[in-house]
Amino acid sequence: MLFDKIKEAIRRIEVASQTKSLRVISHFDTDGVTSAAIFSRALARWGKSFSMEIVKSLDEDFVKGIGEKDVLIFLDLASGSLDYLKDKKTEVFVFDHHEIVQEVPSNVFMVNPSYEKEENLCSATICYLFAKELSNVNKDLANLAVIGTVGDIMDKNYGKVFSSVLSDAETTVKKGILLYPSTRPLDKALEYSSQPYIPGVSGSRTGALGLLRDAGIESDGGKYKALYELNDEEMGRLITAILLKSKSEVNEEGLVGNLFLVKFFNKLEDARELSASINACSRMDSPEIALGFCMGNKYCKEEAEKVYITYKQSLVAALKYVSESEKVEGKDYMIINARDRIKDTIIGTVASILSHSPLYKEGLVIVALSYNEDKIKVSARIAGRQGRNLRELLHRVVVPIGGEVGGHPNAAGCLISRGAEDKFIEELRKVLDVEVVKV
Ligand code: C5P
Ligand code: C5P
Repeated sequence: MLFDKIKEAIRRIEVASQTKSLRVISHFDTDGVTSAAIFSRALARWGKSFSMEIVKSLDEDFVKGIGEKDVLIFLDLASGSLDYLKDKKTEVFVFDHHEIVQEVPSNVFMVNPSYEKEENLCSATICYLFAKELSNVNKDLANLAVIGTVGDIMDKNYGKVFSSVLSDAETTVKKGILLYPSTRPLDKALEYSSQPYIPGVSGSRTGALGLLRDAGIESDGGKYKALYELNDEEMGRLITAILLKSKSEVNEEGLVGNLFLVKFFNKLEDARELSASINACSRMDSPEIALGFCMGNKYCKEEAEKVYITYKQSLVAALKYVSESEKVEGKDYMIINARDRIKDTIIGTVASILSHSPLYKEGLVIVALSYNEDKIKVSARIAGRQGRNLRELLHRVVVPIGGEVGGHPNAAGCLISRGAEDKFIEELRKVLDVEVVKV
């Protein structure tokens, strides 16, 4: 049971921390950063001495370079790096939710719901359960677990455990259009929306006002309600108006979901918007700003707002590059080699946005490559919802050339050496073309 594992982890960390310091390493996405914030606050309140690092990924060289004098604690990563950890001569704890693909070594204590075959939870929720087990004072960290869950898109069919986190966080959950921030006046939220992209409305003030008129939503002296303030009837009319405008380009299932409103810096905020700005800071090489923001630092909050604007501009530039660049295209795939034109930290987001675009047919495999310091970051996504298993596919391509692969069937990634660029594309095309013949 996950709860028993958490209790046992607390006992073991208590013993190990009597003689050693704790070295915590977390992932740089929203789930990782919120996990780091929860863990930092919980350890500080517990009176433990610790260090915290936020990293993009765990590759073999990095793990080999980690010393053995401290107790090692990994958050939101390491479930795919167990082979590298088995020789560490110190206690290792992993709080993660990614799939475990290797044998769990005896020096590693694993706290992972997928290992227990229990309710799927994000890492921030696991860290929150750990914090709450330590002390009820930590209940004030529940909002971070909600943000982490939204960040990892695990907010659709949640179970009992996450429901209890929502009630600890005093989150308002409301069914509605997945347009964020749901706290912003609707005329502005619609005009600036790119996900969902509403033809004739996104990017057009006149279009946004027209849509609100069609839906029978009026302003109060020029000020429109925010999405979360609509009553059920108004929400229903707005959904219908958007669906009529979008024709086949937006489907209702993808358009409607749960809106989560959490208290943050004493204000009601949309968890999706907070998640997007935390993610933006990390992707723009400022994870420390993201962490400070999550921990309530006012200076970091202001910086995070600035970085978020720059990030949105980089995404627009990246999407423009993709639309104009030459691609390697096959019957059921598209390979985009952005080299150094798109940052490695945003290539995954670009691939995700493309995979949600109505421009591409269901099942198309989208693979995007971008240079990082000395390697190549590869992100693969499926357009629509169904298609090939991308993790398996990348695994097959990467085995003969070397590299690290991970992820899920419909969202996977890998890191390969610079020298393997042409070979990777050649092998990938071979595998993709063969699959087509087999079908
Ligand atoms: O980086 P990207 O967003 O494309 O990653 C998609 C999925 O693959 C994520 O779940 C990520 O954690 C995983 N991944 C991984 N190892 C890599 C690259 C990506 O586990 N080297
Ligand atoms: O698992 P990892 O958190 O690192 O995944 C991050 C990326 O994978 C995000 O872009 C997310 O949208 C995508 N993802 C997905 N489908 C899943 C799981 C993750 O598109 N089932």
